Amino acid sequence: MSNLSSKILERLPKRHSEFLRELGVFADKKKSKLYLVGGFVRDIILEYPNLDMDFVFVGDAISFVSNFTKRKKVEVKKYPEFNTATLVFSKNLRVDIASCRKEKYPEPAALPLVSKGSLRQDLMRRDFTINSMAISVNKNFGRLIDYSNGYEDLKKGIIRVHHEKSFVDDPTRIFRAIRFKVRYGFKIESNTSKLMRKALHDKLIEKLTPVRIKHELVLLLEEKYPKEAMANLEKLGLFLHINKNFKIGDSLELYDEIDIRRKDIKVWLFYFLPLVYSTTLATSIEIGKRLGFTKKEEEAIIKLHIAKERLKKLPKDPLPSKVYTFCRELPGEVIYFLSSVSKKELGQYLDKYSKVRLEITGKDLKKMNIEEGPIYKEILEKTLLAKVDGKIKTKEKELEFVKNYLGFKQ
Ligand code: CTP
Repeated sequence: MSNLSSKILERLPKRHSEFLRELGVFADKKKSKLYLVGGFVRDIILEYPNLDMDFVFVGDAISFVSNFTKRKKVEVKKYPEFNTATLVFSKNLRVDIASCRKEKYPEPAALPLVSKGSLRQDLMRRDFTINSMAISVNKNFGRLIDYSNGYEDLKKGIIRVHHEKSFVDDPTRIFRAIRFKVRYGFKIESNTSKLMRKALHDKLIEKLTPVRIKHELVLLLEEKYPKEAMANLEKLGLFLHINKNFKIGDSLELYDEIDIRRKDIKVWLFYFLPLVYSTTLATSIEIGKRLGFTKKEEEAIIKLHIAKERLKKLPKDPLPSKVYTFCRELPGEVIYFLSSVSKKELGQYLDKYSKVRLEITGKDLKKMNIEEGPIYKEILEKTLLAKVDGKIKTKEKELEFVKNYLGFKQ
């Protein structure tokens, strides 16, 4: 396949293809060369959904973008240190245009030193052959440039690095290899696989900063098949390189019970929880630190462990208000996870109980001549719990409940 123009135009929304044509015509006018690269090219060939268009420009991308966007209604973000600009037309149409570059890795796992390069150098610096193709956007729109047989590897479903030091330069590629393997059901070529294992053995994951490991793990957990992704990491023994006590074991099976997605929770964090469900609290905290978790994310892990213990004391058929008070302090990810793996009733909290609101407020209590103070909080709490239990439905009943409660207290 050497010309992909019809395949691209078929698959892109109108707005995207119009933009592409306009950009190409402009590049021709400026006698400049511009290419689509990376994941977008891979996915066009695979016919896999992807509207993430990344371009490389031979020359100075920032001044090209500045000229192109003159008098256009578009937000432009410039990153001179990376010779890159991002164009944001709308939520669905944002693209990166980078200058072609070559990279040099000063030491294993360090960020590369970047300098101007040719298209070939830009493609050959990349992770895998399947991600190292380009498509011309100029007059010969759709022409495929493939210096490393990426097309053939893609058709065969093979993930292959360009050179022996690929994982040494950038150990995050280990995670990336698994990501593409699981997403597309590909195979990692045998030498590539050997190099991956050697990089692990040489403790290169240990050299990565927390932010880089977390980024890769998050992307894997957000993939469609998080269980397979985690099983692959486990098989490689990768978790032990994040923390020496990070053992997954049977926890992988938990993924079979939690494969439902909700909009109101952080998907990756939810799918992370099985990994630490069976480790100790202390190890979980260490893992969170190694991954550079935020305070809130760390809290979610701590609360998971606390809730796991507290759950043992929850009655067999708990009252809704018991479920309510149990869940109230927990993040949605933890509630949903625990409801999937052990206590189904907790799910009611997210769907139902957490939405229960009182109609009365402090003002109503004031009108009843109740003296202001901590008692207000107590009354409103008791009334709310009664409402959660379904004992009260209307505002009148709420007021009646308050009266009774006060009578009961005196
Ligand atoms: N790339 C690389 N090495 C990395 C990260 C990125 O060589 N460690 C290159 C690859 O050519 C990749 C491109 O940069 O295709 C874009 O990277 P990214 O957006 O992270 O990945 P995609 O390949 O687009 O994957 P996804 O579909 O998951 O976004």
